[in-house]
Amino acid sequence: MSNYHIKNLEEYFQVYRKSVREPEKFWQEVAEEHFVWRKKWDNVLSWDFSKPEVKWFENAKLNITENCIDRHLLAQGDKTAIIWEPNDPKEEALHLSYSELHKKVNQFANVLKDNGIQKGDKVCIYLPMIPELAYAVLACARIGAIHSVVFAGFSASALATRTLDADCKMMITSDGSFRGDKKIDLKGIVDKALEDCPDVETVLVAKRTGADINMKEGRDKWLEPLMEKAADNCKPEIMDAEDPLFILYTSGSTGKPKGMLHTTAGYMVYTAYTFKNIFNYQNDDVYWCTADIGWITGHSYIVYGPLLNGATTLMFEGVPSYPDFGRFWEIVEKHKVNQFYTAPTAIRALAKKNLDFVDKYDLSSLKVLGTVGEPINEEAWHWYDNHIGKNKSPIVDTWWQTETGGIMISPIPFATPTKPTFATLPFPGIQPVLMDEVGKEITGNQVDGRLCIKFPWPSMARTIYGNHDRYRDTYFSAYKDKYFTGDGALRDETGYYRITGRVDDVIIVSGHNLGTAPIEDAINEHPAVAESAVVGFPHEVKGNALYGFVILKESGESRNQDNLRKEINQQIADKIGPIAKPDKIQFVEGLPKTRSGKIMRRILRKIASHDISDLGDTSTLLNPEVVDEIIEGINNN
Ligand code: WTA
Repeated sequence: MSNYHIKNLEEYFQVYRKSVREPEKFWQEVAEEHFVWRKKWDNVLSWDFSKPEVKWFENAKLNITENCIDRHLLAQGDKTAIIWEPNDPKEEALHLSYSELHKKVNQFANVLKDNGIQKGDKVCIYLPMIPELAYAVLACARIGAIHSVVFAGFSASALATRTLDADCKMMITSDGSFRGDKKIDLKGIVDKALEDCPDVETVLVAKRTGADINMKEGRDKWLEPLMEKAADNCKPEIMDAEDPLFILYTSGSTGKPKGMLHTTAGYMVYTAYTFKNIFNYQNDDVYWCTADIGWITGHSYIVYGPLLNGATTLMFEGVPSYPDFGRFWEIVEKHKVNQFYTAPTAIRALAKKNLDFVDKYDLSSLKVLGTVGEPINEEAWHWYDNHIGKNKSPIVDTWWQTETGGIMISPIPFATPTKPTFATLPFPGIQPVLMDEVGKEITGNQVDGRLCIKFPWPSMARTIYGNHDRYRDTYFSAYKDKYFTGDGALRDETGYYRITGRVDDVIIVSGHNLGTAPIEDAINEHPAVAESAVVGFPHEVKGNALYGFVILKESGESRNQDNLRKEINQQIADKIGPIAKPDKIQFVEGLPKTRSGKIMRRILRKIASHDISDLGDTSTLLNPEVVDEIIEGINNN
């Protein structure tokens, strides 16, 4: 891509105004300048949010991996595409050039084909942060298979649900994973998940830990020997602009996860253009996003966005606390990282540790810092700014979602003056609005409301895989002709946006979206449980933590409560994953309900936060007496 970036605030406003006045012309120019198209589009955009239906770059033909890899070979085949930093700092890092990446992805693509995968087939990827994860994603895209990456911290049950929902034919995994001082048996989890997934014909297994695993005859195959035998050239499948590229699951307000479906051309154009401008990537920079590729941040800003720009992108296998809390900063020094993108929860956790962990390392290579995933509090923002950026690296607080595909609201470094806790201004092409609860737009500044987007952007999800009605109902029915984000936001006197948090039943814990409904479902499956409600409460490091209020059946009441708590937690870990375990579980006699039987979560949230001075009017509840009983019980759990 050309190296031109938005340089100052005035230019941002110019570009932004153009993107709103003439969106099609604007995106057409971005798309024309930067990419390899096998055929150009007939029409830039057609859309109807009432259906909803959105098409960008209609009838264009392309392959995203040609744009991520092949396009760079001539000019910079020897440039490092991926730096892989292993979990154990004593193990050697890998520097993979664009030519080497080309070879790996082509071999992998041939392995997929040799094992019966064709354009349109769905492939589930359940891998740790090893290079094979990037190869697998790109190999799918090379042949037009649709990847569905499932974060390798999810349980067997959660993996099975996602594998079934996406109709996956193949699973790609490894013999295990290293995380800090732990070794995790991923293949065992896969074996368990696949007991419920008869349509998965092949399991490709990458070798990582050397663990002694079970290989099922006829189904399971080691990846390495197949790669070695495979030809290193695989012609890219020519895809239509609107052909699906991937499915990625996110939590919703019902028990079933939502498989967000992203398509090819719009996603490519938007992730490339945002990456370039928001991280101010310059030619020889080393860029590092600490996310896992199992989340959207990793898809868009470890793999696609950076590679589309011919960047060097760092993949880290491990965790920030191993072997000690200086690991992130050690890596920054070692690889001379220029752009560093992480989550507020990591910043808060590291800020609690001794500053020696930071000061030991030379962080002078850093030029731009980023955060994503949840609101960043003021204290964490300043710690990041003072101790990591040394007050010279702008912080881009990037607001976006799995559904949006790319960053939506963010400062542009060196152009937009930053303001702690504010994601600031919409990226060109993004038209945010604030709405009130009855569906009216709130205009002017110094206001707050529910954040919606009123015009399509290229990388928006096109549907929920297999459930278009749910897509419409969740995102396009609360406000007519608007995409509803599920977040609340305020707009300050200068028009800057600050995201205040979810206004629905999704809780963000350590940057992970967790729906309350699936957690409640898991709790309710315990034989001693009658009913439950899960809410969030503020937590110093995690941002939010979970609080479960649980009503027991009579049969449970005589049981030891600590044991019950353990069993319930285990149940949640098995159904969803350890990240969904509540910090607190309180057994209660009843839950506050409205007369129509709806649980009043607002009251439970206040109780969980120990904010009981103003619970509002509880007299209209069906059972006001339970409120006092719950308050009395707070400290006994
Ligand atoms: C929250 C992650 C405040 C928000 C890319 C959103 C944020 C949800 C920010 C999406 C931010 C993300 N400030 N809140 N900078 N970034 N969020 O789908 O509530 O994992 O709706 O996508 O995270 O989470 P998801």
